[in-house]
Amino acid sequence: MMKILLVGSGGREYAMALKLREGAEAVELFAAPGSDGLAELGTCLSYGVEDVEGIAAWASEHRPDLAILGPEAPLVAGVGNALRALGVPVFGHNAATARLEGSKAFAKDFMERHAIPCAASETVTDLAQGEALIHAWPHPYPIVLKADGLAAGKGVVLAATREEALETFRNFMAGQFGEASKTVVFEEPLVGMELSLHVLVDVKADHAHYALLPACQDHKRIFEDDLGPNTGGMGVFGPLPFLKAEDVERMRRELVIPTVQGLQKDGLDAQGVLFLGVMWTPQGPKLLEYNVRFGDPETQVLMQLLDEDLAQLLLSVAQGRMERDSVTLKPGCAIAVVLAAEDYPEGAKKGVPIAIQSPRSLVVHAGTRKQDGQWVTNGGRVLNLVAQAPDLAQARAQVEADLDQVTWPGRQVRRDIGLKALCHAQAGKGVADAWGQA
Ligand code: AMP
Ligand code: GLY
Repeated sequence: MMKILLVGSGGREYAMALKLREGAEAVELFAAPGSDGLAELGTCLSYGVEDVEGIAAWASEHRPDLAILGPEAPLVAGVGNALRALGVPVFGHNAATARLEGSKAFAKDFMERHAIPCAASETVTDLAQGEALIHAWPHPYPIVLKADGLAAGKGVVLAATREEALETFRNFMAGQFGEASKTVVFEEPLVGMELSLHVLVDVKADHAHYALLPACQDHKRIFEDDLGPNTGGMGVFGPLPFLKAEDVERMRRELVIPTVQGLQKDGLDAQGVLFLGVMWTPQGPKLLEYNVRFGDPETQVLMQLLDEDLAQLLLSVAQGRMERDSVTLKPGCAIAVVLAAEDYPEGAKKGVPIAIQSPRSLVVHAGTRKQDGQWVTNGGRVLNLVAQAPDLAQARAQVEADLDQVTWPGRQVRRDIGLKALCHAQAGKGVADAWGQA
């Protein structure tokens, strides 16, 4: 019996928990803090994801065989360091490496130091300096402003006008996101097609192994046709049907290898995953950002596509013995469609009863709670419907057929997940062709 501690509570962790249970060895799962959904797959522990001392104390007493850190916050807070100090194998980076997500200024320095293609940028810590930069902006609009630190996905603003840039910048410097926004990265806008590239990484002073996972595509805006405000992600599919092997090779050569080598050169150990936000521009792939964790809902898709014993795979990374450069995949395509609460992303109407009939698609719990035996909404992204099929069109059709099977009043859903990519592929277009134009 393998004892696994999983830190987190969302759809990503639920999807991983399901996959962990499919391995050869039986799994005893503990989730911190978990959720009512995860409570059906294991035991929930009442520690917050950033409760370094509480989680370490539990691990010290219960000695898990593997700890998996889901979200960025525990990584940045040093939960990985604390568990490693106890001798627990951890899938998830130490705090030093987690700065690649925890500080956008640090990440940009890293990209520039290792010659990784990315947007031209300038890091500003002074009000007058930033205002002068906005007044003499040397790139096209919009001006991209990024709060340096973690800001719950709200720290990136694409300002369409000088006035909007000034207002955003002043709010950041006044502490809109506390210390996290008192350092601001200004970037030129990148135009093209965005994709999510996940890489398992096992890097230490004496070795550097990595394995690419299939490229996926997220849909960040709340409404169909990519309209409305940004969310954590309303749906993902993967792999991209028009992405050729040579395109993936180009990302490997230009983005992934310099990243892995850069980690080793900089003495940054890495035992976990890196999720590269990539913009495929007319000049080729450029790195938008690093995340030091699996994406949500990207994970829901990746877990469907992986033909691996997840616990053993992640354990090999955690123990610094991944020693391979690829993973085994199932053929076909997977899709995860998010069912979101009323008022999301500004808020989330909680406590609304959910009617779940019998969908064929996998139901992933993300923001639900059980109240007197009845599932109710309990977060912005409530549930995901996940399907795997021989191709994207069929995967889309399967989820579409299930949309009436899981409903509640006020539910929000995008029915166009993967549609743009499907049309692009059906028109015979490739990654270098103009994206999203008929
Ligand atoms: P992040 O919070 O860093 O994931 O950024 C949020 C989103 O902002 C990204 O997923 C992109 O869609 C967009 N973005 C970030 N940087 C740029 C850029 N330089 N140009 C255009 N869009 C960007
Ligand atoms: N779906 C995007 C993210 O996890 O950051």
